[in-house]
Amino acid sequence: MVVASAPGKVYLFGEHAVVYGEPAVPCAIERRATVTVERRADGKLKVHASDLTLDGFTVEYDDDADARPDVDVADSLIDAAVGYVNGAIEQARDAAGAPEVGFDITVESDIPLGAGLGSSAAVVVAGIAAGTRELGVDLPTEEIADRAYRVEYDVQDGQASRADTFCSAVGGAVRVEGDDCRSIEGVGNLPFVIGYDGGAGDTGQLVAGVRSLRDRYEFAADTVETIGDIVRRGEGVLAEGDLEELGGLMDFNHGLLSALGVSSRSLDAMVWAAREADAYGAKLTGAGGGGCIVALDESRSARTALEYTPDCEAAFRAELDAEGVRIEST
Ligand code: PMV
Repeated sequence: MVVASAPGKVYLFGEHAVVYGEPAVPCAIERRATVTVERRADGKLKVHASDLTLDGFTVEYDDDADARPDVDVADSLIDAAVGYVNGAIEQARDAAGAPEVGFDITVESDIPLGAGLGSSAAVVVAGIAAGTRELGVDLPTEEIADRAYRVEYDVQDGQASRADTFCSAVGGAVRVEGDDCRSIEGVGNLPFVIGYDGGAGDTGQLVAGVRSLRDRYEFAADTVETIGDIVRRGEGVLAEGDLEELGGLMDFNHGLLSALGVSSRSLDAMVWAAREADAYGAKLTGAGGGGCIVALDESRSARTALEYTPDCEAAFRAELDAEGVRIEST
């Protein structure tokens, strides 16, 4: 039996613009998904996921069987959750050259689902690491990231950048521009505070909305490019560790995302609560529409302000996690 974990992430800068070839800077956070994998003799997969925002489900199925967990959540969420786990296991089997092998799989996660914190990428990355190790194969981190990206790409119908999967696999702060992914070295402590509205945005729909604005208006295309300029500026500031300026750039980035139509009333309410509590800056993270905001604040005040914000269901500190995927036990 092998247990592996991988972190979620926030976007410090650059979501949406990354879809059009601009750079983005995701940062791994100290919130993890943990996947336990144990080989089965009968070639079946049995998946138990108890701790996701889904109510928790258990399902036993062959690869091609149409089995479906009996829980009261949207089919699309179930399809996605099962698709990510299946995809991870397929990649592990492929990497080990063992296409027929069966597994018992348990997924636990303290990353809210579909809320801009990279929960699916963390599950896939940890799943591939655990599955391959259980089969006696030790994949390099870059290959885990690449295989995880392929799973996300398939499950999300081609609407996936390499940002979430690369960041979850290698940890720390990373820079992603198209297929070019690299770690940003020498980043100091980043005091992230996260506010979660309890909801989730529809990534496909939000990406399509930005695309149509960008096709229609030159100033929307300019807005996307300006987000790229913020990222390029932000990288230098990150290296200097100037939290004050980083926060200002996060505020700017949020304003442009808002102009592109991907914020929401609850995300804006949380962003303003954090700013009024003297956070260095705050912005939505991920696709938007609902889900999470990330603020930069060393004190307790942004978190407390978020806890008193009616639109905020949960607020927590989640500092930069320098470590990516790791084997917890074998
Ligand atoms: O909500 P998330 O964490 O999956 O982020 C989506 C980020 C986008 O830039 C909007 C899309 C992408 O795949 O990069």
